[in-house]
Amino acid sequence: MTQLCAASLANDPRIAQAIALLKAAVREHQASISAIRPPVSELVTTYRAMIEELSELRGGKLYYPFLGSGIGNGTLVELLDGSVKYDFISGIGVHYLGHSHPDLITAGIQAAISDTVMQGNLQQNGDSLQLCQTLVQAAGMSHCLLTNSGAMANENALKLALQRLHPASRILAFSHCFSGRTWSLSQITDKPLYRQGLPSTIFVDYVPFFNAKDPEGSTAAAVNTLKEHLARYPRQHAVMFFELVQGEGGFHPGSKEFFTQLMTLCRENGVAVLADEVQTFGRLPKLFAYQYFGVQDFVDIVTIGKLSQVCATLFTKDFYPKAGLLSQTYTASTSAIRASSVILHHLLKEHYLGEDGKIARIGSYFTRRLMEIEQRHPTLIQGPYGIGAMIAFTPLGGDHEHVTRFVHALFQAGVISFIAGSNPTRVRFLIPVGAVTEQDIDIVCTIIEQVLIDVANSEPRAGS
Ligand SMILES: Cc1ncc(COP(=O)(O)O)c(C=O)c1O
Repeated sequence: MTQLCAASLANDPRIAQAIALLKAAVREHQASISAIRPPVSELVTTYRAMIEELSELRGGKLYYPFLGSGIGNGTLVELLDGSVKYDFISGIGVHYLGHSHPDLITAGIQAAISDTVMQGNLQQNGDSLQLCQTLVQAAGMSHCLLTNSGAMANENALKLALQRLHPASRILAFSHCFSGRTWSLSQITDKPLYRQGLPSTIFVDYVPFFNAKDPEGSTAAAVNTLKEHLARYPRQHAVMFFELVQGEGGFHPGSKEFFTQLMTLCRENGVAVLADEVQTFGRLPKLFAYQYFGVQDFVDIVTIGKLSQVCATLFTKDFYPKAGLLSQTYTASTSAIRASSVILHHLLKEHYLGEDGKIARIGSYFTRRLMEIEQRHPTLIQGPYGIGAMIAFTPLGGDHEHVTRFVHALFQAGVISFIAGSNPTRVRFLIPVGAVTEQDIDIVCTIIEQVLIDVANSEPRAGS
């Protein structure tokens, strides 16, 4: 049989040698990145100027003065000011295997020697097919459309639901949800600040989310509100967005009972059920949060993003679109598609999932360490909260200004986290599960505790 040219290239021993050599070089250099480091003093002024210039160019201040140098070592990342920090937010949930992971380097080199940088709807390579096959199988869905952001995955999902259930056009979503920042999604995302000056073009009805302190009461309240919306606008709702663990909202998980009751109502009223898993995918002991909560039988459409590198909308046969509804010039870069398959392989084949998998083990270890801090300093920290590898806590009473000061102080001390929620504002971590060790968590928790004490002492009202 004639061998494909691509196969003979892939099997060329020079390629394997080159990959091995490049990986050995990275390994050798990254070995010097073994602990956090402060900035190098002679780089500080230039670095500050670069941060200011980037803020100006992009039309908005950067949240952190972060410009990476392009190399890291697992949970540690080097910045252009020469500092090394613990990356416990991983680009808000993207760098799941950590920095400079050897398998992702291999994927990147293989992508670099393939024929195109990008793959699109007109021309896709075999690796796009392979990724779609893996995703539909893992999700128990029939179809998978790749795209390049969580927002686009949600836009596509929205269009699938609206087309299928036309003329229903109203949207249901949870209070405090986040679904993205396109024009339509900024109308669903429950943050008026994010849609300042934008005209409203769609109608969204909100349902209160689950409250772990009052499971029965909050479930009844949500069910009643949903019933009211459905009765007020009969057959006018196309879809309900389910963010099963509220991410930007502050790492609040729902429950099986809560989701089952609401999804049953959606089903009975012909409303599509959309699981927005852009933040939850790969962070609970099951690959998808809807599988973890045991509500897979209700879900019509699922969206994923962040750690998957390539985002996707997965859907059942009933939502098969009419020609022309969904397309885009390119869906993702070849390196992102290859990286996505590598990360999925880790997740599915290397004991991340399950009650004793790495996600659960690392999540509970981090939770235990934070609980110890809470026991020592009950006025400085509440929590921890969250589920699986999505961990958060409320520092210094949860006042937005104090928490902002805390995360910036933590950044300066060498740990990158991020805020979530409001009233109270929490600190959240999206840890690079594939790279993190218990020892990393121990070091990070020591720094967290010290920074909490320092910030509380520097601000008399904080935590009091
Ligand atoms: C639940 C959820 N949906 C959608 C999005 C939007 O994804 P992206 O920022 O990739 O557009 C996010 C991003 O944080 C998210 O957390």
